Amino acid sequence: MYRMIYKSRSTEQMTLGLVRDIAAHSEVKNEKAGLTGVLLATQTHFLQVIEGTFEEVNLAFERIVHDERHFEFKLIAFSVIDARLFGGWGMRGIGVFDLNSQLERSLKKKYGEEDGGIRFPLEEWAALAFINDIKMMRELPEWKR
Ligand SMILES: Cc1cc2nc3c(=O)[nH]c(=O)nc-3n(C[C@H](O)[C@H](O)[C@H](O)COP(=O)(O)O)c2cc1C
Repeated sequence: MYRMIYKSRSTEQMTLGLVRDIAAHSEVKNEKAGLTGVLLATQTHFLQVIEGTFEEVNLAFERIVHDERHFEFKLIAFSVIDARLFGGWGMRGIGVFDLNSQLERSLKKKYGEEDGGIRFPLEEWAALAFINDIKMMRELPEWKR
């Protein structure tokens, strides 16, 4: 089993609707391919994790890297894994904008800022820590402003 992580810049300003559309379309295709993962978006960047077999992760990579909805593609990890981290998610789209200002401040302090939003990290461990922080914060009532 393999896990790929990348960061890219969105061609258009992202909205929750657009992220969810991409994730919903991806989910259908990923489920057929046995892929799981998560797609995070700020207004300007994506951070995506995709888990599955070597072959399927590579096929997904090839499809995604040529998609004109993003560019400045940065591969963060392509690793052998023992188990999936996002087993229940065919592709969950999460918008990291319009956060409660306190949560936004704490994420900016921890991970830095980019283009006025929270900066997605470029190190594998930090990217996974970031996603874990977001997963936990989404459970909080103050997640939404
Ligand atoms: C940020 C981003 C993430 C994407 N993630 C996936 C994905 O996880 N799986 C997938 O099949 N397609 C994903 N896509 C879509 C592919 O790039 C491509 O548009 C799609 O697979 C083509 O599907 P179609 O042939 O059904 O139109 C993503 C696109 C973008 C912009």
